[in-house]
Amino acid sequence: MSNLVSPSLLAADFGNLQRDIEMVNNSDADWFHLDIMDGVFVPNISFGFPVIRSINKHAAKPLDVHLMISQPDNFLSRFQEAGADILTVHYEACIHLHRTVSEIKRLGMKAGVALNPHTPVSLLTDILPYIDMVLIMTVNPGFGGQEFIQGSYNRIEELRRMIDNKGYKVYIQVDGGVDLTNASKLVSAGVNVLVAGTSVFSSDDPQGTIRKLKQL
Ligand code: DX5
Ligand code: ZN
Repeated sequence: MSNLVSPSLLAADFGNLQRDIEMVNNSDADWFHLDIMDGVFVPNISFGFPVIRSINKHAAKPLDVHLMISQPDNFLSRFQEAGADILTVHYEACIHLHRTVSEIKRLGMKAGVALNPHTPVSLLTDILPYIDMVLIMTVNPGFGGQEFIQGSYNRIEELRRMIDNKGYKVYIQVDGGVDLTNASKLVSAGVNVLVAGTSVFSSDDPQGTIRKLKQL
């Protein structure tokens, strides 16, 4: 199966959000990536429930919601109600990760766990059987348009081995600085889902860029 592409709306034009959503609807993209930041877990604030609900009204593809918030347990059902199909929480934000993941699945969503660039992938050994996706951050979370961290390839290869050795069906998603220069190397290292913000929305031809990210 070819890799999936999840354009990050953080890089969209929020004054023309419906237009940018339709662009993604009519592209080869698979999901919409929504970045939720609380100003505590990361040093930035993005958007919340009213915007997610508006996106959900127009989006014709699943909403892949990446929570960069410090106490996600307080809001899991609110994200489900707002339209999230895939809900990803940060390993670093969850003291009772198994409980959080179980609740996400009980609510009918796919469950993802995200890792900051410094967090060893080996820490996921015991949660892998319970989740649908791992999100490897390839920048420090909080902002779009940052430079890809080169050391990420080794982490992805290690995680791919952990998943394949056990025969799990868990997607590996990468997020941060993904573009046409590194995408095929990422897929070769074992990535299934490419998140791309700036490289898509700042492109002269966003749909063409999405198509190229699909056809690696
Ligand atoms: C960063 C976010 C990313 C961001 C990626 O904290 O999680 O999803 O939108 O943006 P680019 O592709 O511009 O690095
Ligand atoms: Zn993200």
